[in-house]
Amino acid sequence: MSNLFKPLSIGNLNLKNRIAMAPMTRGRAGKERVPNDMMADYYYQRSSAGLLITEATVVSKQGIGWIDSPGIFNDAMVYGWQKVTNKIKPTGTPIFLQLWHCGRASHSDFHDGKLPISASAVKLNGDLIHTPLGKKEYETPRPLSKDDIKETVNDYRKAAMNAKTAGFSGVEVHGANGYLINQFLDSKTNHRDDQYGGSLENRFRFFKEVLEAV
Ligand SMILES: Cc1cc2nc3c(=O)[nH]c(=O)nc-3n(C[C@H](O)[C@H](O)[C@H](O)COP(=O)(O)O)c2cc1C
Repeated sequence: MSNLFKPLSIGNLNLKNRIAMAPMTRGRAGKERVPNDMMADYYYQRSSAGLLITEATVVSKQGIGWIDSPGIFNDAMVYGWQKVTNKIKPTGTPIFLQLWHCGRASHSDFHDGKLPISASAVKLNGDLIHTPLGKKEYETPRPLSKDDIKETVNDYRKAAMNAKTAGFSGVEVHGANGYLINQFLDSKTNHRDDQYGGSLENRFRFFKEVLEAV
């Protein structure tokens, strides 16, 4: 009898109920970060929800910061995600892909020895990070140049196109929880003196460009 179990239309989506699965990171995609049958089963098992949002999925190699989380930046990944969306399609539940870039919440162990990137050179104060080579201290990231920013925005654009090819009904851009977009938004981690830092409008600029590209 609850409204929770009544259908709902949002835009061109018809949800069979009002329960949505929140995006939840896991590490089941293996070293190549390619979605697999186990992941297709996992989302299928949850498809009685009205809407599924996937675990955060990195838009580029540089976006990586979590062991064995999936990506959406090469053909094998697109094909892997297609296995997931094909399995969900008959259930009538739309599935969205969450687009992710970890920024400084990463480690050079993920990047062939090169430092992770961020809005500014501000190190994450926190627990150790799990890298493929063990538990490590966070490092001071390399600030993105303006050209790097353009390239990163383009990575989000390509990832969104890949998501479309993979059969997703939509995407969600991860803007929270201390990852790259959040690092631009927050004055604690964004000390830039160009048009991407300072005022709220400037700190929002990177996110805005990502959203427009997506
Ligand atoms: C295991 C786990 C993994 C999560 N991974 C993500 C993630 O990949 N992306 C994200 O935006 N939020 C992530 N979250 C946050 C959840 O999506 C959700 O926003 C958070 O748990 C707050 O909702 P709640 O109050 O209903 O728990 C994660 C939460 C949990 C418990």
